[in-house]
Amino acid sequence: MEQYVIKGGNSLVGEVEIGGAKNAALPILAAAVMTDETVHIDNIPDVRDVNVLLGAIESIGALVHRDDRHRITINAANISDVVVDNENVKKIRASYYLIGALLGKYKHAEVTLPGGCDIGCRAIDQHIKGFRALGAEVVVEHGMIRTRAERLVGSHIYMDVVSVGATINVMMVAAMAEGKTIIENAAKEPHVVDLANFLNSMGANIKGAGTDVIRIKGVPSLHGSDYTIIPDQIEAGTFMFAAAVTRGDVTVKNVIPKHLESITAKLLELGCELQESDDAVRVVCSRGLRHTNVKTLPYPGFPTDMQPQITVALGLASGTSIVTESIFENRFKYVDELTRMGANIKVEGNSAIIDGASRYTGAGISAPDLRAGAALVLAALAAEGESRLDNIHYIQRGYEDFHLKLQGLGAQIHLLDQEQDYSHFHILTG
Ligand code: EPZ
Repeated sequence: MEQYVIKGGNSLVGEVEIGGAKNAALPILAAAVMTDETVHIDNIPDVRDVNVLLGAIESIGALVHRDDRHRITINAANISDVVVDNENVKKIRASYYLIGALLGKYKHAEVTLPGGCDIGCRAIDQHIKGFRALGAEVVVEHGMIRTRAERLVGSHIYMDVVSVGATINVMMVAAMAEGKTIIENAAKEPHVVDLANFLNSMGANIKGAGTDVIRIKGVPSLHGSDYTIIPDQIEAGTFMFAAAVTRGDVTVKNVIPKHLESITAKLLELGCELQESDDAVRVVCSRGLRHTNVKTLPYPGFPTDMQPQITVALGLASGTSIVTESIFENRFKYVDELTRMGANIKVEGNSAIIDGASRYTGAGISAPDLRAGAALVLAALAAEGESRLDNIHYIQRGYEDFHLKLQGLGAQIHLLDQEQDYSHFHILTG
């Protein structure tokens, strides 16, 4: 088992290049199978969830070619199977995007029920409601979702909760259904817009993505495309908070500053200084952090995927802060680990009440999920002394070269596998 060994205390300084958005790449790769023509996709992050999904796409007969580390070519003309069922796919949430893609194209899909990070109940009732409204029969049995339609016909669908996954899945099916579909109370995240733009580049007719009403006129077929994925707002936000907790000076490059507005607003409240250009944001944090409150909300609200990172920062701020998690009910599991590093945090229901401590101290800790794992790395970078972080496979699901990018900013973080001699690390880092 690999782990990160981190020696805290260095202010992070420098520039970091942000990669393509994982949560845009996943639906876009699934949607690439909706045409028989060749699709080229650029700016794909080389992370575990994406690679598992690519394996699943290959396993049903599509040709997948990695042109370079971040560019993929897919041709799905010869898909031989609409049943996606293997152990790996079960581990990633995004496997369910293959239901929307295959149902839209072949009117039949059977996909193993998704897993993903254990951050709370992850219902799929809104996906099912959407598929049924478009004319599909859906059964969930033996750990699989099986769905099939004689005809897919456009419909008016109101989402009872704002769901990224359900909006994306229903949009894919509706793109190839007969007639018009209206999705109300749709998710507005940048990756929802990116998928709509990608489908439109393949000949779909989708309007309104990025607002809460999406209007889709179905088309009988989609064609090839050459598309570049948007930058990852959560990777960018994580490095911006790395600057905040280490009192550093970090510029995130290749970002869309508009997508980072809720994150920059909170960093300003915390007392950081920010400078924006067209495609970069610089975060300078030379003073002690100030307390504030935050509630996670669907976009354009503060993202739940940044909740652990801001909690780590508020744990170092003066005064009392309250962080309220309104999307997933089990996303404070990392608080016990942070407490072992000296944080003073009490979780009551869906809120964390944080009495800012002046410092963290290094400890042996364990990542409970992807974003919490990244946040614990930030805590360790801010801490006095050395930390060892286990279960970093979670972090590798969504961050490409995380430790290398941090090293580039001056962090003392090293990747060790169990076999390596731990004492060697001490010699390396002094
Ligand atoms: C996506 O998950 C992201 N995953 C998550 O990122 C992110 O935290 C989440 O959106 C919210 O922004 C991917 O894009 C692969 P939802 P998703 O459907 O689509 C409820 C990360 O760290 N709900 O928007 O699964 C649900 O229980 C990951 O990168 C229903 O009730 O999230 C939750 O409370 C973790 N019924 C809320 O909606 C449904 O049918 C939002 O979930 C669907 C969802």
